[in-house]
Amino acid sequence: MKVILLGTAAGGGCPQWNCACRRCTAGLPPRTQDCVAISADGDGWFLLNCSPDIRAQILGTPALRAGPGPRDIPLRGVLLTDAELDHALGLLMLREAGGLPVWAPDAVLRALTPFREIADSYGDWTWSSPADLPGLHVRVLPVSDKKPKYVSAAEAGPSVVAYRIEDGATGGVLVYAPCLKSWPAGFDAFVADADLVLLDGTFYAPDEMAGVGGPDQLAMGHLPITASLARIAGRPWAFTHLNNTNPVLDPASAEHAAVLAAGALLPADGAEFSL
Ligand code: MLT
Ligand code: MN
Ligand code: ZN
Repeated sequence: MKVILLGTAAGGGCPQWNCACRRCTAGLPPRTQDCVAISADGDGWFLLNCSPDIRAQILGTPALRAGPGPRDIPLRGVLLTDAELDHALGLLMLREAGGLPVWAPDAVLRALTPFREIADSYGDWTWSSPADLPGLHVRVLPVSDKKPKYVSAAEAGPSVVAYRIEDGATGGVLVYAPCLKSWPAGFDAFVADADLVLLDGTFYAPDEMAGVGGPDQLAMGHLPITASLARIAGRPWAFTHLNNTNPVLDPASAEHAAVLAAGALLPADGAEFSL
């Protein structure tokens, strides 16, 4: 399985357009919003989440560019872990495709109803529960009840999942878990044989949003790296969905060094893995 990290930042990216914080103005390598492309055969590609940056992410990734026919595209569909805008708004940017299959848990499909109604006026989209993909076996683990701000808090049920995707030919296993509120029940078994886990790295520390006027509790929807790092000791897992408040964005920071010292990775946009 080929895996390309199209974007590795949390909502807003880094730099974020309305932010003049230290990291957004430090000239660090820019990161676009969290989105991953996977393929079993290198020809047909599936997106894990669909960020608002998807147009630039596709144009910057040769494997995802259109061709050889004038309107041929290698994209075969999209799996969503949740209905957050930084993970789903890109669907509307893909309207020129005339529709794609989208797989997501029921609660996510329900939350996306307004977006689905818009998308459906532009093409033949299909919206289904997660299923196996060609050459790739897909398993789903509910991990969180965090809901997007635009969804009623009264909506029941788990609204965030993680995916475990296994290549039927190579046996390579990817786990994609960019939104963890806690270390979820069953997660250790879910990742037990994973070759790569892409883990929620939104915040390094739980009080990180305080410095930019954000509510402290925003951090509560994302398990901070300080809490997850000990659990992944020595495993070459990678943090993604990094918020622009996160000190690990600066390669010269002590926090960045601490993550690498624990054996974990902080891959940049465009990083590729073969599993
Ligand atoms: C999140 O991951 O917490 C959300 O994407 C935040 C947001 O963009 O509103
Ligand atoms: Mn997000
Ligand atoms: Zn900033």
